[in-house]
Formats: sequence, C-alpha cells, structure tokens
Amino acid sequence: MIVESNAALQPYNTFGIVAKARTLLRVRGAADVHAVLAHPDYRDEPKFILGGGSNIVLTGDVKALVLKVEVTGRRVLEDGPRSTVIEFGAGENWHDAVTWTLDQGFGGLENLALIPGTVGAAPVQNIGAYGIELQDRFESLDAVDLMTGREFTLDATQCAFGYRDSVFKHSPARDSDFGLAGRALILRVRVRLPKPWKPVLGYVDLQRKLAESGVQTPSARQIYDWVCAIRSAKLPDPRVIGNAGSFFKNPTVTQEQCQDIIARDPNIVHYPMPDGTVKLAAGWLIDACGWKGKSVGQAGVYEKQALVLVNRGGATGGEVVTLARAIQTSVYERFGIRLEPEPVVV
Ligand code: EPU
Repeated sequence: MIVESNAALQPYNTFGIVAKARTLLRVRGAADVHAVLAHPDYRDEPKFILGGGSNIVLTGDVKALVLKVEVTGRRVLEDGPRSTVIEFGAGENWHDAVTWTLDQGFGGLENLALIPGTVGAAPVQNIGAYGIELQDRFESLDAVDLMTGREFTLDATQCAFGYRDSVFKHSPARDSDFGLAGRALILRVRVRLPKPWKPVLGYVDLQRKLAESGVQTPSARQIYDWVCAIRSAKLPDPRVIGNAGSFFKNPTVTQEQCQDIIARDPNIVHYPMPDGTVKLAAGWLIDACGWKGKSVGQAGVYEKQALVLVNRGGATGGEVVTLARAIQTSVYERFGIRLEPEPVVV
C-alpha cells in the first residue's frame, strides 16, 4: 500500500482545481483495501474513492482518506460466436480501454470514445454518448465493500443503471437500503461486446458524418474516428482547459410541460422518450439564457457548448459551484426547470 500525506489533487481532477488530500492511498488491488481496513489509523476514518477525477468538483482540501483506484489490467475473458467478454482493471483509462478493444479487433465501444475518466468510474454514472450507454455493453463488475471488506460481484440489474445514474450514486441513508455511494470500491469491470458487430449511427452528428463521408458501411474504427472528431470539435480537452464534461443532466419533462415551453420558445431542442416523457437539451436551455462565454471568477461557461463549465485558470470549486447555482436559477426562472448537476461536489 502506497501512502502519501498532503498529496496535491490538482493532477487528479479534470477540472484542474487546486486542493490537497490529507492522506492519499494508492489502491492497486483488493489486498490494498484489506490493508486499509485492517490498519488502526485508517479503518474507522471516512473514505473517499477517487477514480479519474472527471466527475468531481473539489471545494477544498479533502479530509477523508482518499483511495485512488489504480487497479490495472486488460484481458479477453471469453471470445465466443455471439459475443466477446473483456475485463479491465478499474484504474485503466477509459478511452485507452476503448482504443485497445478496437486494436484487438473488437467493436462495440467506439461510440464511447474520448470520454474522460477511468473504467471504474464508467458504471458509477453509466457513461453514455452518441446513442450508447455503458449499460448496453456492461457484463458485470467486482467491488469491495469499504465497511465490511467483503468482495462481491454485481450484474447490470444489480447496478440499477439509469440515465447517468446507478446504485453507486445513491446513499443508503437517504434511500432506505438501496445504494452503495461511497461504500463500494470498484476493482474490475467486464463488458460484453455482441457479435456480429452492428454500427449505432442514429445520433444526428454521426448521421452528418456518414453523409459527408459517402461511406456506405462504416467500420467500428471509422465510427471511433468520427466520435473523436465530433467530441474534439465541441468539447474542451481537459488536459488543455479544465472541465468535467457536461455539468448538468438533460432534464425530462411531461409532454404538457414541453408544449407549454414550445408555445413560448418554439426552437427548444427536445427528444420524445419511449416512456412518453420528453428530454430537453440542457445545453440549449443554458444557451438560451445567455450563459455561453460568461464567468464567475475563473470558472466559466464554455464558448462552444453551454453545458460544459470550464476552469479558465486557477478557478476554485466555490466559483464553479456559484456559477452552477446562478445558471440553475436563471434556467428555473425562465423555463421552470430545475437542472441537476452531473458531477459530485466534494
Ligand atoms: N445546444 C445548444 N447550445 C449549446 C449546447 C447545445 O443549442 O450551448 C443544443 C445542440 O445544438 C443540440 C442539443 O443542444 O441540438 C444537444 O447538444 P449535444 O448534441 O452537444 O448533446 P448534449 O445533450 O449537450 C449529451 C451528453 C454528452 C454526450 C452527448 C452525445 C448529457 C448531459 N450529455 O450532450 O455527454 O457526449 O449527448 O451523446 O447527457 C457528459 O455526460 O459529460 C457528456 C459529454
């Protein structure tokens, strides 16, 4: 077990916010977790699980023990006629994992290319992009319970995936016994990639790429390249401009609420959902309130995509939170819709 005191967290959060961990422990496997739970100085301390830091806003130094997940490994577990099962260590970089599957000749994750963060964080918020969510490719995961030290495996149903949601985002105290927030440290994730591979091209940006290219039957690698190009054009690279991807979830409203808004704002971007509700583009709502390019201190709204808040250099978590609240207030006042943040405020 590797232990560091007063560890800088700036390199470990994609917003690039300056903060420290009083104690940071690098977790390379289940044995490290067992060692923490057996250690008299650590076992009763509150703990904070850190993956790729791509979905957090740090508002100060972290007093809880930071368990930085660095479990590595990539292997094909099963390559059958109907599907391929691949297992990754939770500390693997998500995008590198996607690229590796394609290099091995397995398509299925290409729509999820270039999403920042680690493999272990992917099920926590059920990452999704361009018509695919992790739950569509998820097989199972192994985790360890930080309260009992017990190791366990969960399948997709047990993960209770929803839109940017899972059992790992719910805290047991709030939702009776349902919820593993802060309690389950994910060690390994397995995905199942169906055979034969089929392209998922329904998303409008991909349709445009398809039409522009003139390609009839694109390969998984071709779609991967398109997704990388689309994302690079509209989302800031966290290595250059600190950010946590979409800052708010796209809200859902009833058909009546949507009609009401359309009557006032006919251009609103909206998508009918299979359950009869309507999903609205939060980026459009924020943009319509005039937020693109605006700032609070060094925290700003990205010029090319209003759903992304950025660190213009030296932003504090407090500035990000103040900006996010101001956006929520103005969207609520104009549209009567409460935007829900995607990242966790620490
Ligand atoms: N729009 C605006 N102004 C803006 C931003 C968006 O008018 O400033 C409009 C766009 O023109 C478009 C619509 O809003 O008509 C939706 O925008 P976009 O296609 O960029 O997708 P999104 O809804 O903003 C979602 C996910 C992304 C994911 C993309 C592609 C959420 C919260 N975000 O973004 O996920 O990559 O779709 O599938 O669901 C993330 O979660 O971090 C993330 C980047």
